[in-house]
This record gives sequence, structure tokens and C-alpha cells, in this order.
Amino acid sequence: MNHGKRVGIVGAGNVGSTVAYSLAMHGSCHEIILRDNKVDIARGKALDMSQAASAIRSHTVVTVAEEMSDLTDCDVVVVTAGSPRLPGMSRDDLLMINAKITKEVLRDIKKYSPDAIVIMVSNPLDAMTYVAIKESGFDRSRVIGMAGILDSSRMAAFIQEKLGYGGGQIRASVMGGHGDDMVPLPRYSTVAGVPLTDVLTHAEIDEIVQRTRGGGAEIVAHLKTGSAYYAPGKSTAIMVEAILKDTKQIHPCAVLLDGEYGYKDVVSGVPIMIGANGCEKIIEVTLNDVEKKMFKKSVDSVQALIDTLHENKFFDN
Ligand code: LAC
Repeated sequence: MNHGKRVGIVGAGNVGSTVAYSLAMHGSCHEIILRDNKVDIARGKALDMSQAASAIRSHTVVTVAEEMSDLTDCDVVVVTAGSPRLPGMSRDDLLMINAKITKEVLRDIKKYSPDAIVIMVSNPLDAMTYVAIKESGFDRSRVIGMAGILDSSRMAAFIQEKLGYGGGQIRASVMGGHGDDMVPLPRYSTVAGVPLTDVLTHAEIDEIVQRTRGGGAEIVAHLKTGSAYYAPGKSTAIMVEAILKDTKQIHPCAVLLDGEYGYKDVVSGVPIMIGANGCEKIIEVTLNDVEKKMFKKSVDSVQALIDTLHENKFFDN
């Protein structure tokens, strides 16, 4: 069938629908297909968003896949399916529940959208990206996790709040896994090119680093019944658009490392170039000894989750 670009979204909860809405409002693709076990909710949201697209005279239509077998021939599939993070729950608590869901979803994506590039969003993000790569057997360039864009946007917002100026001019950099050990990099963060250390004290920078690490939990604590979705949804949409438009821009994303930064067979967040083929290049940033140590700690936490999956014979089923 000859069709325009199709984006599948598995999981039409808050994050999935925010991704869909953002893409629809940009007219980034021809069709967005929502897949959720709660089919009626997906149907309602799809109608609502298609009507919003009509309102802005966008050509994008939002449809529903009743079954995973209806999610065919997508160019990109975003996976947000999984149990959300609830108050008091760490991202890691979600490990076994969401690994099982991810496994089933990836088997279906492989079957029905075999050429898709997959963007993983479910938590714990890095471990789920690992599961998705292993279960799909796709090349690592085609399965990418969303988190670095979100975490660096949070850091940028906190810098702006602390400074009281510089909005839209802040480039914050965060590497490592999407967990409490993530690695915010003040040394590579600037306000219009001005190093952070020239405009903030060390204590202020430390505070921003800590707040960035707890950025997700801070929102969970306010919302009480769920976690963030506007920034996670927008960050995901940015990745989808980079693929559809083949922008070849650099974004921090979670990818399977194969020797880069000295690690193998583990997923972590690093700057990558995103284009039509997914992750087209992994950039190796020079880290100093302290940053290397923090990055190792973060990679080790992700490795521990992968080890837990192995111990539970997760990959043998
Ligand atoms: C966050 C959680 C959901 O960072 O991982 O918002």
C-alpha cells in the first residue's frame, strides 16, 4: 500500500496521547495510530485529536488499532505501554511488570511493522530499551530510548528558574541512564554559550544537578496519581520528527553501547545523531575523571537491572 508516514503509538495514556497530540499539531506525519488495551479510550482520543487537526487545517489523521495486528507498516513506533510510576515507587519497581509487557509488544511490532524504528518510553527506560532490542532482534540503530531530551530540558528549566533569565538560550547536557544516577553535565551546559560557572555559584549548580536527578519524582509528588507527561511526550515527539524529517540533529538518547565509552551490551544515555535510519551515529564526549565515575555508576545501575532480568530467566522464555 502506498501511504504517507505512519506513526504507531502503543499505550494511549497521558504520555502516548501527548506524543500523538504534539505530532498531530505539527502535521508531522500522515497518520498516527493509537493502540491501547482500553480501545474505547483510544477511540475517543483519536477522534478528539483528528478534530483538533482539522481545526488547524492539518492533514494528519489519528486512528485506532483495535489489535496489535492492526499496527501495520509503521515508519516509527513509540512504546509507552506499561504500568506508570506511582508515588513511592522507584522506576526500578516497574522492572519485571514492564519487561513482560515490552517483550509482548516488541514481538508484535516485529511481526506487523518489521521496518519500523522503535522509540522506547516505558520505565525503567534503559532496561526496557535493552529488552526491546533483545526481543526484536532489530539492529541497535533502530531501537532508541527517550530520556536524555527530557532530563536535559528539565535541567535547562531549572537553570532558567534559578537565573531568572536566559529562557530559550540554555543548552543543558545530561548523560547516563534515566534513573537517580543520571549524569547532569554542568561543564557542558551553557546560557547562550556562556558557561554555567560564570553565572551561577557551585552551590547553585549542585542544587540544579540534584533537582534534575529528582525531576521526575518532584512531579510525581505533586500529581500524586501519576507521573509527568507534557515534557516526556514532547521530548518523544522531537525524536519522532528527527527520524521522519531526517534532520541528523544531535540529541541525548538511550542506546545500546557496543564499546563506546568503554561499555558493551548495556544501554545508557549518550548524545547521538538521529535521522531516517534511527541512531546514525553515537558521539563520544570527553569526560573528566569525576564525570567518568558518575557515568560508570549510572551504567552499573542499569547493568544491575539487566542482571536481575537474567537471574529471573527473563530472556529464556
Ligand atoms: C519521569 C518519569 C516518569 O522522569 O520517569 O517523569
